[in-house]
Amino acid sequence: MLRFFTIPPQIMALPWPNKLQPYEVPMAPLLEVRNLQTHFHTQDGIVKAVDGVSFHVNRGETLGIVGESGCGKSVTSLSIMRLIPCPPGHVAGGEILFDGKDLLGLSEEQMRHIRGNRIAMIFQDPMTSLNPVLTVGRQITEALELHMQLSRKAALTRATELLDMVGIPSPGKRLDNYPHQFSGGMRQRVMIAMALSCDPELLIADEPTTALDVTIQAQILELINRLRDELQTAVMIITHDLGVVAGMTDRVTVMYAGRVVEEGSTKAIFANPRMPYTIGLLRSIPRLDEQERRKLTPIRGLPPNLIDLPAMCPFSPRCDYVQEACLHQIPHLRAVGPDHHAACLFDITMNTPIPERRAEDMLL
Ligand SMILES: Nc1ncnc2c1ncn2[C@@H]1O[C@H](COP(=O)(O)OP(=O)(O)O)[C@@H](O)[C@H]1O
Ligand code: SF4
Ligand SMILES: [Mg+2]
Repeated sequence: MLRFFTIPPQIMALPWPNKLQPYEVPMAPLLEVRNLQTHFHTQDGIVKAVDGVSFHVNRGETLGIVGESGCGKSVTSLSIMRLIPCPPGHVAGGEILFDGKDLLGLSEEQMRHIRGNRIAMIFQDPMTSLNPVLTVGRQITEALELHMQLSRKAALTRATELLDMVGIPSPGKRLDNYPHQFSGGMRQRVMIAMALSCDPELLIADEPTTALDVTIQAQILELINRLRDELQTAVMIITHDLGVVAGMTDRVTVMYAGRVVEEGSTKAIFANPRMPYTIGLLRSIPRLDEQERRKLTPIRGLPPNLIDLPAMCPFSPRCDYVQEACLHQIPHLRAVGPDHHAACLFDITMNTPIPERRAEDMLL
């Protein structure tokens, strides 16, 4: 979803030929990640956890980042927050433009102001970000006093409102509870309330529902959706489960082995995936929109080790469509439709029959 702004009157008043056309001009993205590279130096070698990743998030939109475990999703989000543990990790290259400014060039002090204030993050396990020895109320009011300069009393009132907004019953009373006195789903709600306490422009949700059971998962996703609409917060939701992003994102970026392998509108990704990895992910989840029941087929094998990846398609050892050419080059993203890119050498779709010959035969 593109947001637009109108050309200001002082520009409209300029004499021709300086006058711009009276069209609306697309706004720059809120977040633009360009060619991000994040590496970890380990005893076994350099882990290229994120290897040339680019994507953007527009204001008010929801982007899904999808991929199996270990493909670099969390390292991408921690790089944006400048929270990569160093050593062993470091951002080896690229730019992270937030509202036009490269976060990688900011001082730690400037970054502290952005974190929590303008970009907030929620994690899979709320216990890792909630302090077990402070009441939930104190944790929320502390952030409000620090970032929003609210008085203690105003912070308490706002904290009650926030808990109410995320659907916690009797919010005034629950302020005095400690995190362990909340259920898993309620703790996740508390963390969302904390993340939203300072009206961030961007919310990064890293596997926010992975630890929750299915009904609670649906409630939390619904909550994130509702808050996004009410507060106009842009959301970047990270998950290993394509099903999670189906109903709530505008666009999807698919990651594999530290790289972006497909990107497009959610509609295009679900209706016409063009990278065999995305096709594999879709074949492994049940779909409500299908006429006939179909066998669910998981992707065989495991993602590759990210140390010394050979110069071949990283998905080739697992790909049903692998050909000789795939073993000699790294496919780059190429346009496969309007605003739709895929990193595959061939024009493969959901309807391309899987060749009889097994991929392993190619590699032996
Ligand atoms: N502190 C670390 N030291 C070494 N390797 C790391 C570290 N953190 C992450 N990695 C590696 O980076 C890769 C990507 O991890 P991550 O971003 O957490 O994956 P996910 O997509 O599951 O979120 C993995 O191979 C992981 O082992
Ligand atoms: S480039 Fe080859 S191995 Fe890689 S996804 Fe496409 S068909 Fe499969
Ligand atoms: Mg992760």
